Parts: sequence; structure tokens; C-alpha cells
Amino acid sequence: MLHLAVFASGHGSNLEAIYNSIENGLLKGVELTLVISNNSTSGAIAFAKAKHISGIHLSLLKCNNDPKGLEDETLRILENAKIDIIALAGYMKKLPAEVITKYRGRIVNVHPALLPEFGGEGMYGLNVHKAVIAAQKKHSGASVHFVEGEYDTGKIILQEFCSVFETDTPELLAERIKKIEHRILPLGIQIIADKISNKVPVINT
Ligand code: GAR
Repeated sequence: MLHLAVFASGHGSNLEAIYNSIENGLLKGVELTLVISNNSTSGAIAFAKAKHISGIHLSLLKCNNDPKGLEDETLRILENAKIDIIALAGYMKKLPAEVITKYRGRIVNVHPALLPEFGGEGMYGLNVHKAVIAAQKKHSGASVHFVEGEYDTGKIILQEFCSVFETDTPELLAERIKKIEHRILPLGIQIIADKISNKVPVINT
């Protein structure tokens, strides 16, 4: 079994989708070992607790505003739990640089748009859907990609498209795209897990 850590800041519907995929046997060979959130009151932490999964609140503030302290603590927690794969499921912070280096090719993020469009700093949650509607796009969707040092960069693993209707509000579009995210994030994790299990390189550089 490969050990998965999910980082989430908010509601945690993508975390729930990962959990359900494992429970339903759609996501195989992976155990949801750890949930980490920068927000102690997040739905993600509450969900982890309800499912008896280790849920850890970890933030810069908790590490005395010391970025190196946060980096060391994040690495320590991941190493102790023998984590193989990291999924960012609505995680609104950057992972510390050493974490990205150590787990490179084993970290996936889900983004609620068709990257490389509508990504980058400040492009999260409803902001993304507002920008898509303002740009009068006819299509949007969701992307699952490898995580690199900058927000929403890194090789794309999967994307699924949907229509944007004239009557769409950011909230309606978010709802449609969340359904896509809930399908493709577990699929992206499965692709990485299969590559690790078959001992093939997880990323082509
Ligand atoms: C999701 O739509 C996810 O794609 C987005 O935050 C939401 C979290 O929802 N992430 C980003 O925008 C990252 N740039 P959830 O807490 O219900 O999973």
C-alpha cells in the first residue's frame, strides 16, 4: 500500500472524493494516511477526524512564523508517516521548497480551470470562475497537474472540459467543475500510484 497525504485548506470536498474513491475500490493500492491543513477549523480537518484519519493543523504561524521551521516540520511529519504521494486538494499555500524537491513527481494538484489559462497567484476558488466568465469563455473545466515551485505550474496529467453557459454565475460554474474535479483528482493519483508501483519514472524531465 502506498501512503497518501492530502493537503487541504477549506471545505474538503476533493478530500472526500479521494476518500470515497478509495472506499469504493476505484482508487487502488493507496491508503489515505494523513490530512494536513493550514486551517484548524477547516472542513478537511473535521472530515479526517470523523473518519479516524490523522488530521494535522500545520501553518507558518504555528511554527513561530519561521519558514525553515515549517519546512522541517512538514518534512518530519511526511517522513514519519512514510508518505509516498501528496495530493493538494484545495490547498491555498505553497509547499515548502524542500518538500517539492523531495517529493518531485509525486505531488499532484487539482485546479478548477483549464491550465495554463486562469492559473497563478490569486487564482483560486471563485476567483477563477469569475475570471473565466468575465473573459466570456465558452469552455472551462478542471486540471490535475504535477506540482512545481510556482502556483499552478507543472506538467498537466489530466484535464476535462465543460461548457460555460451565458446564464452561469461563478457559483454555478464552480458546482459543475467540482464534479469534474472529484472524478479526475483520484484518477491522477491512481496514475502516479501505478507508476510508483511499477517502478517507472513518475515524471519525464
Ligand atoms: C477546488 O475547486 C480546487 O480546485 C480549488 O479550491 C477548491 C477547493 O474545494 N483549488 C484551487 O483553486 C488551487 N489553485 P474543496 O475544499 O471543496 O475541495
